[in-house]
Amino acid sequence: MSTPATSTLRRLPFNAPVRAWALSEWALLPLRLFLGVTFIYGGLMKLANPNFLNPKSPISIQQSLVASIRISPIHSLITPLTHFAKPLGVFLAFAELAVGLGVLFGFWTRIAAIGGAFLSLNLFLTVSFHSSPYFVGSDIVFLFAWLPFIISGSGSRFSLDAFIANRVAKERNLPDPTLVPIAFSTVQNICGNFDNGKCKVQNGAACNADLCPVLLGARAPRVTRVGGDSIDRRTLVTGGIAAASLGGVALVLGGATADIGRMIGGAKAPVTGPALGTTTTSGTGSTTTTAAGAAKGTKLGAAVQVPEGQAATFTIPANGDTGIVLHKGGKFLAYDAICPHAGCPVGYSSSANEFQCPCHGSTFNVETGAVLAGPAPRGLTALKVVEGSDGNLYLQ
Ligand code: FES
Repeated sequence: MSTPATSTLRRLPFNAPVRAWALSEWALLPLRLFLGVTFIYGGLMKLANPNFLNPKSPISIQQSLVASIRISPIHSLITPLTHFAKPLGVFLAFAELAVGLGVLFGFWTRIAAIGGAFLSLNLFLTVSFHSSPYFVGSDIVFLFAWLPFIISGSGSRFSLDAFIANRVAKERNLPDPTLVPIAFSTVQNICGNFDNGKCKVQNGAACNADLCPVLLGARAPRVTRVGGDSIDRRTLVTGGIAAASLGGVALVLGGATADIGRMIGGAKAPVTGPALGTTTTSGTGSTTTTAAGAAKGTKLGAAVQVPEGQAATFTIPANGDTGIVLHKGGKFLAYDAICPHAGCPVGYSSSANEFQCPCHGSTFNVETGAVLAGPAPRGLTALKVVEGSDGNLYLQ
């Protein structure tokens, strides 16, 4: 019969679970599932969307790199990458897929987690570095979410790593390698040191193995592994076969997804419209006017290029940013198109009648440029575009 102290330990919900050690094997499974599914989804989304590799699309890898150069603390490292944007995009998509598959199946989990942390670190430094406060950007959270798997691997539940290690150990007639050996003196200190049927560490109470986290019957720790070299070689060979199989699955899955994406056209990006030229009306400044009928400012192009209800882009001479002008209700509404969140150029969605950022989904009011939905911390900078009597648009 248990003592009052023992019963209290069992009942209180805020005590550590009696078999915490055994439960800990399950603790990382939800996070593994989430990271695996998310990275597989991220990789497949990139492969399925032809716009991801189309340099003219605002959601392309090329445009994202250019946007990152403006805000990233490692912009000097990013600049050369813009020349290899397409292969880099394909590499990133397959890297995300491989990382996701690895962590989902618990296969080479530490390597997958290091890869995932590396990708998350780069996304943090290029995309969400200026998120404020820092914790609203997801990439830093992903970065830290990888650390438990770098430290401890996949654990023994639903893990190919554990399955392979167990199988190899069984073939060699060796103990289960996923169990952790514990010195007997530690067991005595934690669980009991019996003397005449009484347990010394439980103040003389009767023995109760339920309170001992390391006495797990048939699953109690066994001896340290022997024959380590031959096991490791065998594990490597079995793991290599599994890696090749999983890699084949990733290639087939990625290739099929890319083909399907190309067939159905991929995710739609908000429209940026035609690009207008930017020439000053005369001289080198942007405000000089000498031509008859011309307005002051930088000539963007013929107003007929921007029909009612449509938008066009141009380059803002003062800072090199992309500008966007929308013809709406007879007015020309113009803004610096660079999203204040992480620098992607916004586009116009006629169905929603709003400016939309393709990178993280911020939306902006077309009349004022104000943020309708974040994560952008502020609205778009308004510009003044007028139509001159010569039929051209001018940025003032
Ligand atoms: S760049 Fe992130 S919402 Fe626009």
